[in-house]
Amino acid sequence: PSLSEVLNLHDFEALARLVMNEKAWAYYSSAADDEITIRENHAAYHRIWFRPRILRNVTNVDWSTKILGIPTKLPIYITATALGKLGHPDGELNLTRAAAKYGVVQMIPTLASCSFDELVDAAAPGQSQFLQLYVNKDREITRKFVQHAEKRGIKGLFITVDAPQLGRREKDMRQKFEAEAPDEMDKNDQKADRSQGAARAISTFIDPGLCWEDIPWFKSITKMPLILKGVQCWEDALRAYDEGLAGVVLSNHGGRQLEFARSGVEVLAEVVEKLKEKRGIEFPNEKFQIFVDGGVRRATDVLKAIALGATAVGIGRPFLYAFSTYGQDGVEKILQILNDEFEMNMRLLGAPTLKDVVRDMVDASCLHQH
Ligand code: FNR
Repeated sequence: PSLSEVLNLHDFEALARLVMNEKAWAYYSSAADDEITIRENHAAYHRIWFRPRILRNVTNVDWSTKILGIPTKLPIYITATALGKLGHPDGELNLTRAAAKYGVVQMIPTLASCSFDELVDAAAPGQSQFLQLYVNKDREITRKFVQHAEKRGIKGLFITVDAPQLGRREKDMRQKFEAEAPDEMDKNDQKADRSQGAARAISTFIDPGLCWEDIPWFKSITKMPLILKGVQCWEDALRAYDEGLAGVVLSNHGGRQLEFARSGVEVLAEVVEKLKEKRGIEFPNEKFQIFVDGGVRRATDVLKAIALGATAVGIGRPFLYAFSTYGQDGVEKILQILNDEFEMNMRLLGAPTLKDVVRDMVDASCLHQH
């Protein structure tokens, strides 16, 4: 079908299922074990309902904001997803170019198929990028990579903390991974086992020894804002705040890691409540920002997370499905769809700006009922 017939983010998934090759589909769509958490990620948003306000002047609505101080035209960012070339020959470049056109931030994955420098070189003047970091057992490799990223102008370092070992993704494991190795993979791990799917093949360099005691070291090697990606309870969010980090991403890695991990948006409600109780901070907060990802498919999902206190949300798979089917045009289409959805839904909510999307605009009383 032509791109004009694609109406929403779910459509891209349905189309991708039809046209993608088995290996790429298995790697992108798979999740841990029985795929309960991946389903819950989106389902959790269905337990939050709106309390819209009426008779507010919504002639003009504005859904731009700032993420870590960086202006963005949408309250979303393109989160890190590895191995873009499985789905399209241009890989993550599709994301970089579309992000420039639509004024959003791209998070570059450690395990991008394109090289890190290629993705930074492809950025338009003034375009901001973040880096997702998998921490290597060899800290010298990590130190060099982080410091290189800082020199190249990366605006935030998102350290993935939910993957000391990669989860068991059986759909992916049934495929043998023979795709070309990304640079990072060979640098990181000479003896990747390719017999159990893409995820397992690329991940053995990740250090399961990473711990809170390493945080001061990260602070000593870089001035980039540090954010932990994959926080899953208020206790760890509180510790991140106390450690002086710039923020957390409440995420279960798109349901790909611990099966029966809760959805990011459910954790969000808990974190906001407890950090207010324990430290007296209110969200959204500029000094300590909370992000959420997993299962976000509609502007209404994003607005719910913002009402609960998130600064912005990450979106992963829809972009992969979009470039696997229509290349960069598909990615741009997603951003256009989201722009349209924000405009209409903010009008219907009675919220001219994102600051008007406040806690009272949602009823989350059923959120914790599974
Ligand atoms: C991911 N994700 C991920 N996260 C990370 O920190 N490093 C990585 O290399 C990857 N790679 C990756 C590959 C693929 C194919 C997927 C689907 C996901 C997790 C990602 O950043 C994010 O947490 C989820 O994708 C969000 O959920 P949705 O939007 O895909 O539902």
